[in-house]
This record gives sequence, C-alpha cells and structure tokens, in this order.
Amino acid sequence: MATVLSGPSPAHTSHLIQAALSLAELTSVVRSVAADTRRWQPRLHLPDGNDRWWTRLCKDDRVDIWLLSWLPGQGTDLHDHGPSAAAFTVVRGLLSELRMDQRAGATSYCRRPDSVIWLAPGVVHDVSGAGVEPAVSIHAYSPPLCEMNYYAPDAGGRLHRVRTLATHAPEQGTLR
Ligand SMILES: [Fe+2]
Repeated sequence: MATVLSGPSPAHTSHLIQAALSLAELTSVVRSVAADTRRWQPRLHLPDGNDRWWTRLCKDDRVDIWLLSWLPGQGTDLHDHGPSAAAFTVVRGLLSELRMDQRAGATSYCRRPDSVIWLAPGVVHDVSGAGVEPAVSIHAYSPPLCEMNYYAPDAGGRLHRVRTLATHAPEQGTLR
C-alpha cells in the first residue's frame, strides 16, 4: 500500500485560497460546462499521434476550465494540482483514474460520462485513457492551475514528491 509522504508544495498562499471556488461550486461548473455541448464540441480535437491534446475553454481569476482528449493508454503520471482543487467529468469514452489515499493506498476507478469527480488540493492521482475509443473530458481547477507536483513510489510503496512543475497546462505527464 502506498502512502503519501509529501504534501502540497509551499506554493499554497492565502490569496490563492481566498480566490478559490468551493468544491461544490467547482463540481457545479464542470457539470454545467459539460452539459453545454455547443460550448466545447466545436473546439474538440483528438490527439495527433502520441501527442496529448487539450485546450482551455475559459479562465478568470478564480477558475480555469479545460477540454481534453485522450487516446487509449495516454495518461499522466502520479501528480497533484499544487494549491488548486480540481474537478473533472468524462463526456465521451472512458478514463481510468488511479487515486492515492494516505490511509487506503491506491484505488483504481473507471470514470464514465455519468458523474463529476473532485479532488481537494494535494490529492494525488493519475489519469489515463481507457477502453478502445478516444475519451474526452472536461477539467476545472480553482484557483487556476499554476503548479503540478509529481510523485513516485519508493521500494516500500511510499510516495515521494519527485518534481514540481510550474504550469498552466492540465494533466500533463512529465516523467516519461
Ligand atoms: Fe490531475
């Protein structure tokens, strides 16, 4: 069983926390954007070759919202979203999510187009395309994404933060 030894990075700041949406608000935003297909379908592309694809749908000082597509097997690495909370939903296909928990270790989930998943700041997960068709998902971060921390397990299965990346691009895999 893996446990998280390293929490969110020191990038947490009070002004960011004050600007954040609540998890309920973030979930509601994702659900609303996903339901408004005219907002995201015209902008959708599938990944070209092995390259991941995403585009930002909107951003303000409290939240940024992204449209992502995934070929089967394309994924991230174990990461958190720095000081940002996150929520996402699948709007096409299937995603696999590996969620790390300090007490229960790793749990794998199949994410389908039927619910919105949320992550508090510091929660570590890994997301990848599942099934046989490309998947499409909508992700929101609040405060807007500015940092991702990457983790790797040691021989005993305990997670260690191995890299912090200042970034505005969502759900990247940088360890490959
Ligand atoms: Fe993520």
